[in-house]
Amino acid sequence: MRQSTRGDGAAPGCAVARGARDHRLIGESPAFVEALALISKSAQCDATVLIEGETGTGKELAARAIHYLSVRRDAPFIPVNCGAIPENLLESELYGHVRGAYTDAREASIGLVGQADGGTLLLDEIEAMTQRTQIVMLRFLQDHQYRMVGGKTSRRADVRVIASSNADLEALTNEGRFRSDLYFRLNVLAVRLPSLRERTGDAVLLAQAFSHRLSERYGKPFKALHPETIAFLESYAWPGNVRELENMIHREYLFGDGPAIHITQPDRHRAHGHACAAAAATHAAQDFKSAKATAVMQFERTYLLEILTRAGGNVSAAARLAGKERSAFCRLIRKHWPAGMGCHEP
Ligand SMILES: Nc1ncnc2c1ncn2[C@@H]1O[C@H](COP(=O)(O)OP(=O)(O)OP(=O)(O)O)[C@@H](O)[C@H]1O
Ligand SMILES: [Mg+2]
Repeated sequence: MRQSTRGDGAAPGCAVARGARDHRLIGESPAFVEALALISKSAQCDATVLIEGETGTGKELAARAIHYLSVRRDAPFIPVNCGAIPENLLESELYGHVRGAYTDAREASIGLVGQADGGTLLLDEIEAMTQRTQIVMLRFLQDHQYRMVGGKTSRRADVRVIASSNADLEALTNEGRFRSDLYFRLNVLAVRLPSLRERTGDAVLLAQAFSHRLSERYGKPFKALHPETIAFLESYAWPGNVRELENMIHREYLFGDGPAIHITQPDRHRAHGHACAAAAATHAAQDFKSAKATAVMQFERTYLLEILTRAGGNVSAAARLAGKERSAFCRLIRKHWPAGMGCHEP
């Protein structure tokens, strides 16, 4: 929950919202260009914005773009995950507390609203707000006044609020699961981010951009997209949207064997619960001992790829994450990839 410093290398041929180059809103499809126009417009005024879209469509990125394109760009951008704040800490997290406000409050805390003063507060996953949080937030949105826990005076924060939701907030409101007064306060400007399925041509554009970015990040050659990858990217339904695509390219960039990005099926390196069932059915053709050995080999390979991806390809960091000695971790890597995948490095 800190100010963003995100920003990576530009990829050629990528449309970005004017001035939003550090926030890399990549995409050229008509559906996405329409959303980009709304993002630019939202940045030019100071009203509350509601950003809706499926998971991984770029809602947080869009909120950052709005902030950094707006006059508030030099003040903090503070994201708050609404579902993650425990109710008993809610007011203290949002509004801060004075010293001695409760037993553990040895120091005063400014709170997220205070941190965002002059800048932008992103209420992320707003659909996960409890009823009580909704009331607390509504009160704040009415006049931007709040009181620190244990404080005697009321304060005012000059904060622009952006809310984001994975769910259809209007439907939740109609069903009585979200307060309508809060919904109307939030939904002054609305930006709907299209799913990747709706964004014709963008999966390929994004994949190329991610491969460029990765080559800069790891100081390794750019990997072009294999023609079969392009066919796959264009036909896949992308339930996890851009995040799924980004992770897929990241894994393949780091661990794919050839000079090109070659993906022909979703998450071919990943373990899935249902994949285990399918594997068990396949393995039933073998005796138990060999079937188990095959399954263990598959698990190890998938696990290693996943943890190495999480560690950004850094073997020592991955070993730490796995809770293994680096030498033992390297032995395991070499068992699967004799070339060692960086294990010869000190
Ligand atoms: N148009 C885009 N161009 C480049 N990168 C993008 C774009 N959209 C999303 N991404 C990347 O995809 C990932 C997911 O984006 P983000 O976290 O903003 O999605 P989200 O909609 O907030 O997802 P969730 O609902 O799961 O929180 C991030 O790494 C982000 O940088
Ligand atoms: Mg998000």
